[in-house]
Amino acid sequence: MEMAEKTVAEWYANHPISAPHILTKLTNLRGSTKDVTPQELYPYDQDHYDGLNANARLADKTQMKPGDHVLDVCAGLCGPARWYVTERGVDVTGIDISPNRVDGAKELNALVGMQDQIHPILGSAMDMPFDDNKFDAAVSQESFLHIPDKAKALSEVFRVLRPGGRFAFTDWVMHSSLSEDEMEQYSQRFACQSLLSIPEYQAKLEQTGFKVVSADDVTASWGEILARRLSMYQTLDAEAERAGNPSKGDEFLKMYAQFVSDVQQRRIGGVRLAAEKPQ
Ligand SMILES: C[S@@+](CC[C@H](N)C(=O)[O-])C[C@H]1O[C@@H](n2cnc3c(N)ncnc32)[C@H](O)[C@@H]1O
Repeated sequence: MEMAEKTVAEWYANHPISAPHILTKLTNLRGSTKDVTPQELYPYDQDHYDGLNANARLADKTQMKPGDHVLDVCAGLCGPARWYVTERGVDVTGIDISPNRVDGAKELNALVGMQDQIHPILGSAMDMPFDDNKFDAAVSQESFLHIPDKAKALSEVFRVLRPGGRFAFTDWVMHSSLSEDEMEQYSQRFACQSLLSIPEYQAKLEQTGFKVVSADDVTASWGEILARRLSMYQTLDAEAERAGNPSKGDEFLKMYAQFVSDVQQRRIGGVRLAAEKPQ
């Protein structure tokens, strides 16, 4: 694991979206975790913006169909994976660098009886332990910001996709350059390694060999979603601290408010990209 990846894994070891917190919350809500459904997990296990809508958009963009083998790059707790299995009838392999998230994903998959359809793997997006041309489709959500060498990760996705397979993903982008000091703040507070502009992202995909299918600027909708997410984090963080589970504390919440403001002013933003590996 590279140093930058170690920092990312440590950052996610201490994050309010965690399996222990989800299990505490479900037990408080319904008395036990017996017979939990994937639907009951959805309010807590999706670590990206726009929840289930975002999953549906990516699923549509990749054109995944029942029976497909799908790769989720940086799959987290496999919340999106459980949705793809339930709603699109695919099976999912999810790779993630954070041990607590891979363990949490396995625990939550077993809780809802999905251990045979979802395969969480501990590993780096920049060096994936999969054969060439293995997957029919690949997805990723708000994760490449953490990856130090995006070109390497994109070439890995390209390698493991079958010809004609599509990769659809969302990520943070930079609309206007940030000062060194601001970038340092994003690196310390969000484990953000680097940000590209939308045209730079398109160029990197093309250099990798992908054909870009679409590039949607989602900054305006993220501005609204993020304001709501800030209040969710405020509640979750306080709850997690009270329950003795991972939380991020006041400094993180202050920086999150700065992030929301940067998105609303279009300094930083989001993109949804879809690209195809040519036949
Ligand atoms: C914002 S979360 C997204 C999780 C999941 N996709 C979701 O939407 O719920 C980002 C995830 O990327 C993972 N990650 C960051 N850098 C990685 C890398 N180099 N290789 C694999 N996973 C990585 C983190 O551990 C974290 O779980």
